[in-house]
Amino acid sequence: VSKIELDLSKIKVGESVTVKWRGKPVFIRHRTQAQIQESEAVPLNTLVDPQTDAERVKIPEWLILVGICTHLGCVPIKDQGDFGGYYCPCHGSHYDYSGRIRKGPAPLNLEVPDYTIDGNLLTIG
Ligand code: FES
Repeated sequence: VSKIELDLSKIKVGESVTVKWRGKPVFIRHRTQAQIQESEAVPLNTLVDPQTDAERVKIPEWLILVGICTHLGCVPIKDQGDFGGYYCPCHGSHYDYSGRIRKGPAPLNLEVPDYTIDGNLLTIG
């Protein structure tokens, strides 16, 4: 079982980084207060794959996602699309600041990997 560790103190509010974990991209986003509030305010009945924001994060400021589109596996682009979070250019899937699918052919939200956050230390896996 491979784990990776990352120092979160280097990622400023509003910034995102991508790391590789088990051959997959993992997106790490330091969310702004506006992004958190927007994510928490979305009514569940408007979601294709209904999950509250709280179910998808351990700490509201940090969004951790497997960066693989749940449609056919392309890598979405951050800070793009109609909902601001991620956009998959392969067939046009739009994800929000919680990594939830909001528009397009993808059936499911972006996967949240197993992780822990202890102070500034993120451990994925
Ligand atoms: Fe992302 Fe098809 S693989 S929209």
